[in-house]
Order: sequence, then structure tokens, then C-alpha cells
Amino acid sequence: MLSSTSAGAGIINPPAYVKNKRLLEWVTEMVALCEPEAVYWCDGSQEEYDSLCAKMVDSGTLIKLNPALRPNSFLARSDPSDVARVEDRTFICSNEKVDAGPNNNWVEPAEMRATLNGLFKGCMHGRTMYIVPFSMGPLGSPIAHIGVEISDSAYVAVSMRTMTRMGKGVYDVLGENGEFVPCMHTVGAPLAKGEQDVVWPCNKETKYIVHFPETREIWSYGSGYGGNALLGKKCFALRIASTMGRDQGWLAEHMLILGVESPKGEKTYVAAAFPSACGKTNFAMLIPPKAFNGWKVTTIGDDIAWIKPGKDGRLYAINPEAGYFGVAPGTSEKTNPNAMATLKENCIFTNVALTDDGDVWWEGMSKEAPAHLVDWQGKDWTPDVAKETGRKAAHPNARFTAPASQCPSIDEDWENPAGVPISAFIFGGRRSHAVPLVVEAFNWNYGVYMAATMGSETTAAAMGKQGETRRDPFAMLPFCGYHMGDYFNHWLQMGHIVEQKPQIFCVNWFRVDEKGQFIWPGFGDNMRVLQWIVNRCQGQASARQTALGWMPTYQDIDWNGLDSFTEADFEKVTSIDAKLWQQELDEHGELFEKLKERLPQQLVLKRELLKLALNV
Ligand code: OXD
Ligand code: MN
Repeated sequence: MLSSTSAGAGIINPPAYVKNKRLLEWVTEMVALCEPEAVYWCDGSQEEYDSLCAKMVDSGTLIKLNPALRPNSFLARSDPSDVARVEDRTFICSNEKVDAGPNNNWVEPAEMRATLNGLFKGCMHGRTMYIVPFSMGPLGSPIAHIGVEISDSAYVAVSMRTMTRMGKGVYDVLGENGEFVPCMHTVGAPLAKGEQDVVWPCNKETKYIVHFPETREIWSYGSGYGGNALLGKKCFALRIASTMGRDQGWLAEHMLILGVESPKGEKTYVAAAFPSACGKTNFAMLIPPKAFNGWKVTTIGDDIAWIKPGKDGRLYAINPEAGYFGVAPGTSEKTNPNAMATLKENCIFTNVALTDDGDVWWEGMSKEAPAHLVDWQGKDWTPDVAKETGRKAAHPNARFTAPASQCPSIDEDWENPAGVPISAFIFGGRRSHAVPLVVEAFNWNYGVYMAATMGSETTAAAMGKQGETRRDPFAMLPFCGYHMGDYFNHWLQMGHIVEQKPQIFCVNWFRVDEKGQFIWPGFGDNMRVLQWIVNRCQGQASARQTALGWMPTYQDIDWNGLDSFTEADFEKVTSIDAKLWQQELDEHGELFEKLKERLPQQLVLKRELLKLALNV
């Protein structure tokens, strides 16, 4: 049974092993502000996890799945008002507005602090305050950093145990004076005396996800979901860490990290950035086609990379996370068998459908939907209902929270505190036309240009007009904690710091034919492109020069086992259409215009050179 300290004097009562002075002061201050009923210090143990989950089963927040089918796993259903990240409620409160840039919402810090103080006053009435210590990255790694999240959500506490290195060991690293990023979170739903709680407490009307980059603080109010509430992920590991990286000479990126092992045993690591909904988790866990005998892909991370220069002049990367918070719909034995195997136990599923035998299901998991389900809102669902009303069984942003250690393709060095050396950066988006299957940048600065101008077509009506290209530089638009122009400059500067720079590539799996059908088979066949990339890094593949950069000829790619894809198809996915590129460059110009107060001249120059090369 967990013991938490109850209200009144001595409510804080920290365990003897918590010695960090700033932490103790901060918790004291936050208890006074939030007025919780009790304080609980998480130790990260299995016993604690089980006990918190059992408590949430009792309160209805979690539904225990059938242990014979999905051992030690649970389903949570969130409030329909709390199902995704809320970009319009996300703020970067730097001292100067210009430092946040046009890519972020900004409010003057003192004004925001006044607002937050008002909202947080008494916000934890009737609730337990959990103190959640965590390390982003292996404990004690020189690339890792520590955070402490204070939250009134047990769902957050248990999810943080899966997603980060959470628990007692963090206090050894912190010591008395170690630094940490304070992450303050409340669901924003205080309980009056005797008031019955709801299964998913949140604040339907008011949400704030706030970052103070100079003081490296995060304050999140009103949501219990995903990146809004698991503050180690997008808030710390990207928005705050990107500013730390800018100040300290490293990179915090929205990138997967994978390893490619050749039949000769050569290992090459690459990091790849894709906007949401471009198959990032699938790529991170790719299984090569059968014909690629002896080639192996291993997974370090599926979403975020922290990358620091090593003493040998190379860049070294870690995955700061310890789990996957992946989108469930579309994940299947066909699209990502490694993810499916990862999900076999010890998972929390949020907003997926429940089967009659107590397991989970989502759109795309199987060709045929089960005859009956309970949908993500707890309502009966059948394929007929779906046909008549269009209602989905799982919410399109339904998620799984799963330990990375369960992934069959996990790399043996995924917890190496030194990180893994990165040989290539890959940038990709969802583009029906214009962008070819793969291009290698002529040099670092050209690569920065390609990444800075990348875009992706919106897929869901909610995200904008379908098929519209949204520029999403480095796939960091919602996650860069400062001015995007300064961020480009930081990447250009890294090119001077790093002696052995990774090669930079741009990919596009999504070109379509006249009928709107995807031309490239994708999924496991992306290995063919990945192999070429890796071979280029090893100096073992040839290429032809084009206006955009180096590209493979048909003969440079291994087509073994893919007879259906012809040379004519290859031409369709690699052609460069000058008219489309004229439009592309116009759009690059529009992006640059928005960022002009901080845009590096180097990129303006590169655009002019591209114009000349393309003759447009
Ligand atoms: C994510 C995202 O949730 O990029 O990882 O949106
Ligand atoms: Mn992501």
C-alpha cells in the first residue's frame, strides 16, 4: 500500500534520500500554492507502479485489460476535450518577444506568471501531489539532463515511469546542488470537499502549456493528455532542451535514431526528422525486405534525439526517452510488426477501442474490424455503426505508452551513456509531388537549407485544408523553443564546431501518380533507400549530380525482391519538375520573409544558388 503524507503541518515530509536544496524549496513553495490534500514522492518501483495502477482501476480511470491477452496492461479513456497537444495554448515566454519568434505564441513573462499564479492557487484541492523525479537519457550520461515533474495526476506519474528513467536513482545524480528542470503540472480540476471525482479530470475550458526558456521552467495547466502533461517529452526534451542546446552548443531534435548493420558487420547510425503522421515510428523499427539477407535495422529512439559533439569530432546521440508514446491507429503486423510485439504487455493504451474479450483494437490493426467493440468514448460500436455514422472506434490520435526495452529491434547500445555516433541526418515530409525519393545535400549548409525549407502535406481536415503543404522546418515547428531563424543559425554554427559532420539527406516516400496512388511501396522497402544512404556515408555507393544535390541512379539501388517496381516508376519518384520547383522556391521565399528579422544570409544565398541551378 502506498503511503502519502496527509494535509496539515509536515505535509511535505520528503524521504531522507531527497537532499537537493532547490528541489525541497520548490516543492514547499508549490505545496503552499496548490494546496494539495497529500504529497507523494515517487520512487519509480514496480510496486509503486502496480499500486498506482490498481488505485486508478478502482477509481475508473484505468480499465484492466485481459491478462491472458495483454498482461499488466490498461486502457484509459480521456475526456473528449482532452485528446491531443494544444498548439494554440502553448506559449514560449522569453523575456523578449523577438526571441520566441513568429513560430511561437508569446506572452510577457510577468503577465504570464500572474495568470499562472491565479490558476494554480488551490488547484490541487482534494488531490494528491506526486513528485516525479526523472532523467531524460541514461542516468548520469553526460548527454542526459534531469527534470522533476510535480503533478496531481497518477496517470502522469505512471506514464512518466514508462517514458523516462523515473525514480529514486535520480536523487543520487541530483545530490544536494544538482540542476533540474522544474515541470509543474495540474489537471486544473480541484475537488470540493466530498465532491466525487470524474474518471478523466481536466479543465475543459482552460489550458496553458507554458515554457520560460531563460529560467528553464515548464508550467502546464488543464490537460492530462500526452505532450501536454508528460512534460519530459515535447516540453522539456524539445522546447526547453532546444534552448539549452543553443546556449551550450548541442542539438535537441525531433528525430528518430536507428542503426543499420551491413552483412559485413559495419554499423552506421542515422537520425531522421519527419513531421507527425509521416511514419516515423515505422521507420525507426523498419524490418528489411527478405532479399536483404544479413542487413539489420536496430532502434535507438522513435521521436527525440539529443545530440552532442564528442571529443573525436563526431556527433553522438542518445534517445532521451525510455518508452514510446506512439499513435495506435494504422499500427499493424503489416505496417510495424516490431511495434506490435513491443505492445504485448506492460502498456497503457489511451483512447483505443475495447474488444469483448478485454483486449484493444484500433482502425488499421486488422483488415476486418471485430463485430462489436466499445469505442474510445465508452459507447457500443459495430462496423455498421461506423458505416452509417463514420464514427471511429479509436480516436485518430489514440496512443500507446510502451517500454522501449520491449522492442524486438532495440539496439544493444540504446542505453549507452556515451550515445551513438551519427553518420547521417535524414529529413522527410509527406509530399505528393516535387520532392524526389532521396537527395543528398552537396554540403552541410545546403543540408541545413533543405531541412529548413521542408514541408509536409496535411492529412486530416482538422489540421488545415487537406493536401496543403505546411512548411515544417526540421519537423520542429511546434517544438522549437526559440526563434526559428536563430535555430537555423545554430545549425549552421554546428557545422563549424563539428569536425566530422554527418551527411545530410532529404527523402520523400509519398509521391503519387496521375491517379493519386502512392508510387513508392514504402515501409520495409524504405530499406533500399536507407541502404544507399548508409553506403554513401561509408563511401561505397555512387550517385549522379543534380540541381538539388546527389541522387542515386536506378542502378545505384538494390532492387532484389522488388520486381514490381520498374525503372519508369523510379523515374517518376526521382524526376525534378522545374515548374513545381519554381513554386517550391516561391514558398521558401514566403517562409524566409516571415523569419527575416533573424534569417541567416547563408540561406538566402543558397536559395539564389538553387534558382540558378534549376534555371527558374
Ligand atoms: C508526437 C508528435 O506526438 O510529433 O510525437 O506529434
Ligand atoms: Mn513527435
